[in-house]
Amino acid sequence: MGANEAADSALATAWSRELGLHVPIVNAPMGGAAGGRLATAVTNAGGFGMIGMGSAGSVQALERELTELKTDRFGIGLVDWVRRRETGLLETAINAKPALISVSFADNFDWVESVRDAGILTATQVYDVPSAHRAQDAGVDVLVARGSEGGGHGADRVALMPLLDAVLEIATVPVLAAGGIGSGRSLAAVLAAGASGAWVGTALAAATESLLPEFARLAMLAADSASTTSTTAFDAALDLPWPVEYPARVLRNDFTEQPLPTEVLRAAIAADDPRFAPVDAGQGVGLVTHIESAATVIDRMCTSAAHLLTRNRPD
Ligand SMILES: Cc1cc2nc3c(=O)[nH]c(=O)nc-3n(C[C@H](O)[C@H](O)[C@H](O)COP(=O)(O)O)c2cc1C
Repeated sequence: MGANEAADSALATAWSRELGLHVPIVNAPMGGAAGGRLATAVTNAGGFGMIGMGSAGSVQALERELTELKTDRFGIGLVDWVRRRETGLLETAINAKPALISVSFADNFDWVESVRDAGILTATQVYDVPSAHRAQDAGVDVLVARGSEGGGHGADRVALMPLLDAVLEIATVPVLAAGGIGSGRSLAAVLAAGASGAWVGTALAAATESLLPEFARLAMLAADSASTTSTTAFDAALDLPWPVEYPARVLRNDFTEQPLPTEVLRAAIAADDPRFAPVDAGQGVGLVTHIESAATVIDRMCTSAAHLLTRNRPD
């Protein structure tokens, strides 16, 4: 069990109860970070663990991470263009019987029906009211309102608070909040606003159970909230077919300041060279000050959020 019982009940939402969660925290499906180990740790801490298949996602990579999974309560997150490139990836995800599958980064919802038909909840990240309407109209069960401060790929359009406000206004399905949530304060804020839970990336990306390479963890520890930038430069140099409306929020480094030839970038990535290699991180990276277990991060966030949400209540 993760956070203590008092914190659990202070934070519970209708959605978290329905999923049998003790705390309304979902780890974002982060390619290269959220494998079976992190998903297991998050679920064991009372939240909802997800495996992420990013740009390098494949059937083989998903199968490998599924063998690391030691829980029945989990989700899988895919990137739309990777799902379309990798034959069998969506089917492999469905056959693993997760409770939820997310597919993000396209206004293409042809995957929703087969996932729902398998009795699996569907989710996608949205960035404004029109994209929230489109997802909802396509039958997506859970909207993830992802603010522009978030790490990794996503539209660099609206910050989380105004986005969450606007999406909650029109949503008829549960809404999870994403972008910069890494403390009790930010967790309390989105729950008080009406979010059904928090979809947390950066704050869990450097957790001990993450797949993140050592150089990236160290770069995250050294960064503060002003250290990130939103860019398409890495995707262009690596010739990855990311739609340009979804740049990636990364740590600023020599490459983001002055892009270099593709061969130099590839060599830097192979050598884990932080001067040039990409490290996905959101503006909440300043809250990442230690390498800790996912349970420690979640317990701290939940204990503090419960305190903040209950301190002004009369006895
Ligand atoms: C290291 C990292 C990798 C990510 N990879 C993916 C991914 O593969 N698929 C996806 O849907 N989102 C991915 N994201 C974005 C998250 O789903 C989410 O939008 C973001 O982490 C939320 O903001 P935060 O990082 O401030 O918590 C990634 C984010 C990070 C930090």
